[in-house]
Amino acid sequence: MIPIQGNRVDLAPVAEAFGKVILLGEHSVVYGYPALAAGLPQGLRLTAEPLPDSASPIELSIPAWGLDIDLRPGTHHPVAMAAIAVLSACRGPRQGWRIHGETRLPSRAGLGSSAALTVALARLAAPEATLEETIEASMIGERIFHGQPSGLDSAVAARGGLVRFVRGEAPVTLDADIDLPLLILPTGVPRSTGVQVAKVRERRDRLPALIGPVLDALGAAVALGEEAIIANDLNRLGEIMKVSHELLSALDVSAPALDRVVGLAHTHGSPGAKLTGAGGGGCAIAIPPEDPRALLDACAAEGIEPLRVDIRVDRAPETAAEETENEAAR
Ligand code: PMV
Repeated sequence: MIPIQGNRVDLAPVAEAFGKVILLGEHSVVYGYPALAAGLPQGLRLTAEPLPDSASPIELSIPAWGLDIDLRPGTHHPVAMAAIAVLSACRGPRQGWRIHGETRLPSRAGLGSSAALTVALARLAAPEATLEETIEASMIGERIFHGQPSGLDSAVAARGGLVRFVRGEAPVTLDADIDLPLLILPTGVPRSTGVQVAKVRERRDRLPALIGPVLDALGAAVALGEEAIIANDLNRLGEIMKVSHELLSALDVSAPALDRVVGLAHTHGSPGAKLTGAGGGGCAIAIPPEDPRALLDACAAEGIEPLRVDIRVDRAPETAAEETENEAAR
C-alpha cells in the first residue's frame, strides 16, 4: 500500500500528466538495452467537481477518447477498474464526483495515454504525494491495463522531460538544456504491444545470429542519439532515427501505414523519421523540416493529422551553476 496519509473525501480541482513518446530503443529495451523517451507536453488535464448527489458513482468522461463511464464497484470495464484501483490506492473518494479530461493525445496509439490517465487520477486524489508515490499509484492502474508494464510510461507521464530507461532500473532524467521539435504522425492503425513484442521474440529465437546484431545496433542508436540531442544536432539525430526505422523493419514491427508516413516525412524534407513504440500501427515521429508546409499538406491529403510538439528540458539550475563555477575556477 502506498504510504499516502489521510482518507480524503475530496479531489483536487485540476491535475495534469504528460504523454510519452519513445525516441529510440523500443524493442531492444526488452533485451536489456537502454531506451530514450520524452514527455509530451500535450498530455492529459483532468478537472474534478462534486456531484449534487454525494452518493452517486464517480463519473469519468474524456470525450477525445470516446470515454464516458461510471466508476461502479464490481465493474469489468478496464478503464473503470484501473481508475477505481488508483483512487483507492490514494485513499481517494469512491463516489460523488465528476471527472472530466481534456487531451490532444490519441488513445491506444503508444503515446502513454493510460499512464497519463493513472498519473493524473493519482494527482487528483493525492495532490500532496511525492513523485515516487504518484508513480507507484499509477503503476497499480497500469498493471490492470497492461499486465506487467516496464514502468517507463508511468515515470515519463509523471516527470516529463527526456528520460533514459533501462529495464529493472530507475529511469534517469537527462540533465541538459534540450529543445527538440517533433512531429507525431498517427497512422490510425490499431496495434498491440504484446503481439509485436512476441513477434520479435519469435524472430530472434529463429534467427539469433541475424537478430542479435540488429538489437545491438538499436541499442547503439540510443547512445548516439542521446549525444546528438545534447549537441542539438538534429540532422545527425534524424539520420540515427532513419537507421533505427530500418532496423525496426528488420524486426518486422513496421507496417505499410508506418512505412508510408515515414516515407512522406523523408520525401518532404524531414531530417529523419521512424516508427515509435511497439509498431504494427500507432504512430511515427519525424524531425520537422525547416519549412513543414509541404509535409503538412501531404499528411492532410492522406487524412493524417500531425501533432507538433516541442520537447523542452531545462538543465537543473544547481548543475548548471556548478558547471559555471568550475569553468570560472579553470
Ligand atoms: O507502443 P508502446 O508504448 O506500448 O511501446 C512498447 C515498447 C516496447 O519496447 C516495444 C515494449 C516494452 O515493453 O518496452
